[in-house]
Formats: sequence, structure tokens, C-alpha cells
Amino acid sequence: MKQPYLNFQVDHMTLLLQPRLYSVAYAIFRVVFGVQAADILYDKRKEWEKGQGEKSMTYALMIGKADETPRELMNTIVAVVQPSEPLSRPSHVREMLDGHQAAAHWQHIALRTPDLISFHEHALSLGVNFVTPILNDAEEDLIQVFSGEWFFPGMKASGMFFEFLERHPSQTKQQKLQEQNRQSWFRDRTFDGLYEEKEREYQSGKVTPFIDFELIELIEKQINGKSTFQLNADDLKACEDIMRNYAAKKNK
Ligand SMILES: [Fe+2]
Repeated sequence: MKQPYLNFQVDHMTLLLQPRLYSVAYAIFRVVFGVQAADILYDKRKEWEKGQGEKSMTYALMIGKADETPRELMNTIVAVVQPSEPLSRPSHVREMLDGHQAAAHWQHIALRTPDLISFHEHALSLGVNFVTPILNDAEEDLIQVFSGEWFFPGMKASGMFFEFLERHPSQTKQQKLQEQNRQSWFRDRTFDGLYEEKEREYQSGKVTPFIDFELIELIEKQINGKSTFQLNADDLKACEDIMRNYAAKKNK
């Protein structure tokens, strides 16, 4: 019998970021994830040395509000993966752990959306990279897509990325997707699909970033050393325009 106090819901996730990615990530959350000013729960500042100015220590953003999701979908799930390959074989999972001298590493956060196709189009139009097309997991009755990893030029790939998923997609949506990508659609075991793709990336040494390094540099230029708490609506609009123009040029 499971005790009631052992019923856990995801409350929040904490992400450590290098200073170089800290403000860029803030812009990404605001622009790509649609975080509004009112959804910034806090942005704590501290002046470590007198006269050096305040630094942002931590910010928290609400990327989703409670909705009408049926109770049976509101389960809290942890998926655990180990490098199961023999030592003689390469393994991106082993590399992600060893490369960061980490015994444990939260690899991806899966975010559920009520409309994956629209989110996917929105993200693509802002220059977000995905490592797979939208995949169908018939067994779980869900569709999902995996983003590139969060890192920046001159840094090892972080091993951290996002999964976006929609549960119980309608027949119409399934058909639309099926027409878009015939080969990958029928890969019924999406874990294998992602696993193989990540393995291929790590072996080739070319890990897809969440957004291209070139675009990160353009956003950094726009942010121009401002702290997260100094970024206003105009700054974010400018970031959005940069992302949109970059993606339009790239996808042409
Ligand atoms: Fe997942």
C-alpha cells in the first residue's frame, strides 16, 4: 500500500546555467516559451562586492499554468537510463555522464502541450533546432519531438534538452503528420528513435544545439550585457525579431 505522503507531483525544476547562457536562456524562455512578465516569479539580485553593481542570482519562470488536463494524465513520471552498452562500444549516455564527471544528470524535461504541431511550427519559425521530426508513439498514444541541447560556442554539449509531447492526438493530427514524414512515422518505438539519433550525434561529434551558435551570438549582441531584470519588452521584441529573421533566412 502506497502512503499518501509518497504521492509526488513535479513542483519545479532547477537548471544550472553558465553565465553566458543565463540571459540568453531568459530571452528564449520569454520568446520561445511565451513567458509573460507576470509569469516571472522572482529574479533575485545581489551585489557581491560594493560598487560592482547587482547581479541576478536566480530567476524562476512559470512556463505552464494548471489547465483542464484530465486527472489521469497528471501523473509524475521519472524515466531512468543507464549506458547499457558493453565498454567496447561507444555510448552517448556514458559520454554525457563521464564528460561532465557526473554520477547523475537530468537529461531532458518533457513538456506536454495541447497542440504539438502548432508549438513545433512556432519554435521552428524562431530558429529552434530539433533532432528528430515529430515521432509517433502508438503504444503510449502520444506524439513527441526532441529539441537540440542547450550549450554555446566553445563549450562541451550539455546533454540537456527538451522533449515536447502531446498525449492522445486526434486522428486528423495523426494523418497530417503521417503525410509529412512517411519514414519516421512508423518507428513505433520512439525511445529507440531518439537513442539512435543521439548516438549518431555524439559519435560524429556534431551535437545539434537548441539554437545555432550564430543565433546565440546575435541574441547576446542584442542583450549587450544587460541583466535579466533589465531586459524590457522592447529588448525581448528585438530578440524575437532577430530569431524570426534568422530562421526565415535559414529555412529559405
Ligand atoms: Fe522522454
